[in-house]
Amino acid sequence: MISLPEILGLAPVVPVLIIEDETLAVPLARALVAGGLRALEVTLRTPSALACIERIAGEVEDCVIGAGTVLNRNMLDAVGKAGARFAVSPGLLEGHRFQDSAIPLLPGIATATEIMAGLSSGYDHFKLFPANIVGGTGALKAFASPFSQARFCPTGGVTPANAPDYLAEPNVVCVGGSWVAPVDLLRASDWARIEALARQAAALRRV
Ligand code: 3PG
Repeated sequence: MISLPEILGLAPVVPVLIIEDETLAVPLARALVAGGLRALEVTLRTPSALACIERIAGEVEDCVIGAGTVLNRNMLDAVGKAGARFAVSPGLLEGHRFQDSAIPLLPGIATATEIMAGLSSGYDHFKLFPANIVGGTGALKAFASPFSQARFCPTGGVTPANAPDYLAEPNVVCVGGSWVAPVDLLRASDWARIEALARQAAALRRV
């Protein structure tokens, strides 16, 4: 099992993917990997999401496929069976503890109380969500001193323009975002432009 720190260290950006047509999953993943983004998050927001995860897991080499929008234990179990190697949730999963998981989970937090609950459950990596709304880099600076062991992947409103500021925070390991796979390029199967967006994202620097 690849660990969460290893997965989140693969590239500075984890693409957040919403895929409606499962036949687009493999070429999309290949374009993102070719651009240098190896950890991908397919969100469970479309009926085809599990099939997309299965296809990418089975067909795309050099890719660590994950599942996003995992809202409960059943969804966590289902994505693991589909081949996901990590899971992301917008919040803390009620009653779920780190030790229970077959695959690593990146839980979402927005407040100090949620970070404390997550730390008590054994987590030390969190998705700050929705990052721009809950304080952005100011929140990350404020969390750094009381929660020195916590590391974050800010997601929600992250763009190529503000990603460098997030990545400059010492407690940020990577950012998440949907901008690398815009729906219009996906519908047009414009893999060259998606690969170019991925390449730009992969070139963003952590400090
Ligand atoms: C998520 O699920 O993490 C967000 O919807 C991604 O946010 P973005 O679309 O603002 O990048």
